[in-house]
This record gives sequence, C-alpha cells and structure tokens, in this order.
Amino acid sequence: MSSPFDVPALVGRTLDLARQRGFITSTRHETGRLLATLAAARSGTLAELGTGTGVGSAWLSSGAAEGTRIVSAELDPSLAEDVQKIFSDVANVDIVSGDWTTLEEYAPFSLIFVDVREVMAEIDHLAALLEPGGIAVLDDFTASAHWPPIVDGQVDTVREQWLTDERFVAVELLIDADASLVIATRR
Ligand SMILES: C[S@@+](CC[C@H](N)C(=O)[O-])C[C@H]1O[C@@H](n2cnc3c(N)ncnc32)[C@H](O)[C@@H]1O
Repeated sequence: MSSPFDVPALVGRTLDLARQRGFITSTRHETGRLLATLAAARSGTLAELGTGTGVGSAWLSSGAAEGTRIVSAELDPSLAEDVQKIFSDVANVDIVSGDWTTLEEYAPFSLIFVDVREVMAEIDHLAALLEPGGIAVLDDFTASAHWPPIVDGQVDTVREQWLTDERFVAVELLIDADASLVIATRR
C-alpha cells in the first residue's frame, strides 16, 4: 500500500467480486483498516462469521502476521466457492462453505469478526469461542445518540448487551456519521 487511501490487492479482488455479483453489504474501507490493524496485534486463529465476497478476510489477511490463521464461513455455497477461488493461493486463509457454527472446530479464536446480524445475538456462544483477551468485532450498527441505543423506535438490545456484559470490556466506535461498530474484549 502506498497511501492510506489505497487498498491491498487482495481486497481489490474481493471488491471486484462484490461488483460482479451486485453484492452491496461488503465491509467498508474504514472497518477493513481497523480489522487489519487489530489482526496485526493477534496471533493464533482469527474467525470471520459471514464471508460475503471475502472483503473482511482480505483485510484481516493484509494485517495478520505470518503464521496467524484466518477462517471464514459463508452460508451461500456458490458465493463461498467464488471466494475460495480468490483465496486459493493465500496459505493462511480458509473460506469454509457452511453455517458459522462449522467454525467451532477451529476455536478458540483470538479475534472474531461477526458480520451477520442474527449471529450477534449469540453472545454466550461467541464468548465461549473466544480465548481470554480475545476480541469480538461486530459491524454495521446504526449510530444512535441515545442510551440505550434506539433504532427505528426500538431499543437495540443486542448492542446494549454487548456494551454492558460483564464478560467483556467493550466500546462502540462511530465509523461514519450514521454507522458504528462494537469492539468487545473478553476478560
Ligand atoms: C454483511 S455480509 C458479510 C460481509 C463480509 N463480512 C465483508 O467483510 O464484506 C453477511 C454474509 O453472511 C452470510 N451469512 C448469513 N447467515 C450466515 C450464517 N448463519 N453463517 C454463515 N454466513 C452467513 C450471508 O450470506 C452474507 O454473505
């Protein structure tokens, strides 16, 4: 990368796939750079739940040290197959076709990137998959000026739980005027 505005070549390939498929829910660059930064501080195994076209995995891979493994699960088999082709020559990344729970066999994780809304509600399950000091990154919340956070007139109970659960030290970060993510470290 020559400047903070460029993206790594592998990320570019996953974004090309997103364009080809009309896939519009890929991780944005700001979140990707955060994932790469966190990955650089991790060892062991990192997991992504919900691969999409592989953007998050590519950012994690761009930051991770040699020897750090990345596993990512995608429920849509045809999408998983396309992404597997992109990562076929990336030794430390495995794209798994199947439900996120298929990644349990690779646990414990030093970082989990949770990018499926329904999975975020599985806080007990996710806490059990993280090693002590392990980090969960939960993407794509709607920014809210209220506490507890309110979206469409309803309390966002999932975000509220992640930010208050005693098993984690957590913070919400604005990544744009209208979007935020949560980073939660397992005590
Ligand atoms: C928001 S997109 C993921 C974007 C991706 N993480 C990125 O960095 O660009 C969510 C993806 O999760 C997949 N998905 C939905 N439910 C899932 C599940 N139970 N297990 C694994 N993947 C799932 C969807 O098919 C979709 O591709």
